[in-house]
Amino acid sequence: MATSKHLQFVANHAIALEVRQGLSANPKHLPSKLFYDEIGSALFEQITDLPEYYLTRTERSILEIYAGEILQQAGPSLTLIELGAGTACKTCILIEELLRRQSRALFYPIDVSSSALNEAVRQLGRQSPGVRVNPIVADYTGGVPALSRISGRKLVLYIGSSIGNFEPHEAIGILRRLRRTLRPGDALLLGADFAKSPKLLVPAYDDAQGVTAAFNRNILARLNRELEADFRLEEFRHVALWNRRLSRMEIYLESAIAQAAFLAAIDMDVSFERGERIHTENSYKYTHDMLDSILRGSGFTLEQSWCDRQKWFGVHLARV
Ligand code: AVJ
Repeated sequence: MATSKHLQFVANHAIALEVRQGLSANPKHLPSKLFYDEIGSALFEQITDLPEYYLTRTERSILEIYAGEILQQAGPSLTLIELGAGTACKTCILIEELLRRQSRALFYPIDVSSSALNEAVRQLGRQSPGVRVNPIVADYTGGVPALSRISGRKLVLYIGSSIGNFEPHEAIGILRRLRRTLRPGDALLLGADFAKSPKLLVPAYDDAQGVTAAFNRNILARLNRELEADFRLEEFRHVALWNRRLSRMEIYLESAIAQAAFLAAIDMDVSFERGERIHTENSYKYTHDMLDSILRGSGFTLEQSWCDRQKWFGVHLARV
């Protein structure tokens, strides 16, 4: 039963290896980048519209209010780059503002998903004809050498609190590798979710409609589809917890019963005790000090921050 999707996944030995390692470990875990196949990306889009998921709309409102100030602070004649751009939904706010200041603009969205980038090119072409879009299909976490060949002043957007999926030391590594491809005067605009009460955080990751639960379970659905596994999705519960000590939301899939699964494509058996969990994601929530130390640790200097009135979310401009 070698469907094209199956072949695509098996061809990626690194991912198959990560799945094997994660499910053999104690406690079990799976890499959160596995969330974002076509179905998972559509579920995430749905999450961004949920009443409980304040992140996306709060960041968007910050960009809408402060786009002018942000670009002013970044400096004149900017080329925009975006890490993990996806369909670049929120970016058009900054692009529109940029086109009010300069007649033409260049935008380099970077993403592992070529289908998301195609969508970004299509939408921006319609909404902002003044911008030339040069998509780069790449995993930005290892650094993108092509960035060093872009001339002029660069503003790199890393928004949406995507950085929150990484441990602080990993985040420092990603930003350090990014910084090596930049020049003095270039800037980074980092969007990050602030630490806040679990009364707000937990529902944002465990919504009433169960969209986040479906997003989480899709990781197992994906293993069923692409690694010919037989996980019984209805026997895994979505769990969202606030880890105050580490200042992060954690999400898990918890086995409701004692059970086993078989992943035929990698010839692997996995068994679960009742109540045993698979850790599928961390989402770090930052204090100002955490952000400052991550930015300094990677060689950037924090220059200015903008946030909403309730201080739920912030965007931060840092200089190379
Ligand atoms: C896309 C990583 C920013 O951590 O809030 C949403 C992913 N996970 N609901 C986040 C996510 C569960 C999201 N990021």
